[in-house]
Amino acid sequence: MRAMILGAGGMLGHDLVSSAPEGVELHALTRAELDITDTASLAARVSDEKPDVILNTAAYTAVDRAEAERDLCFRVNAEAVGELVRIAARARARVVHFSTDYVFNGRRASPTRRTIRRIPSTRMARASSPVSRRSGRAARTG
Ligand SMILES: NC(=O)c1ccc[n+]([C@@H]2O[C@H](COP(=O)([O-])OP(=O)(O)OC[C@H]3O[C@@H](n4cnc5c(N)ncnc54)[C@H](OP(=O)(O)O)[C@@H]3O)[C@@H](O)[C@H]2O)c1
Repeated sequence: MRAMILGAGGMLGHDLVSSAPEGVELHALTRAELDITDTASLAARVSDEKPDVILNTAAYTAVDRAEAERDLCFRVNAEAVGELVRIAARARARVVHFSTDYVFNGRRASPTRRTIRRIPSTRMARASSPVSRRSGRAARTG
């Protein structure tokens, strides 16, 4: 299996790289190697490497700065993910995207179901909240 990891320099990306099972041909890319907001480079890379699965751990995670950097936050956490899913759908690659539990308000005492209404309380969470809807739509339309 060929797997591509985006945002591989971050905490989650680093852990996924170090725990990759044997037999997986891994293409791990840090932001310096591939910026996911650069759609043309992203498409070219996916086309070249033909991954079976793309693990997206690239994210804008600076919660405190997100109010001042709204556009960048939305570009990375929402728009770029939608584009990634469209590119992957055309290349017949699966995408695994990691969002954040900040999209829920955290007040529930019981486990959170995927279908529950999102109540994002920070700018970063608001940018991440449309991602699953956006990526679901993109995957269906290709
Ligand atoms: N860590 C956890 O326990 C955990 C748990 C649940 C969900 N998550 C989710 O998993 C994702 C990653 O979390 P993390 O903890 O690994 O965060 P992190 O350590 O901040 O890593 C994010 C990585 O994304 C990179 N990045 C930012 N903008 C990028 C861009 N435009 N193109 C490519 N890469 C870009 C960052 O690069 P720079 O450092 O150069 O900015 C950084 O290496 C987030 O969505 C988070 O909500 C994480």
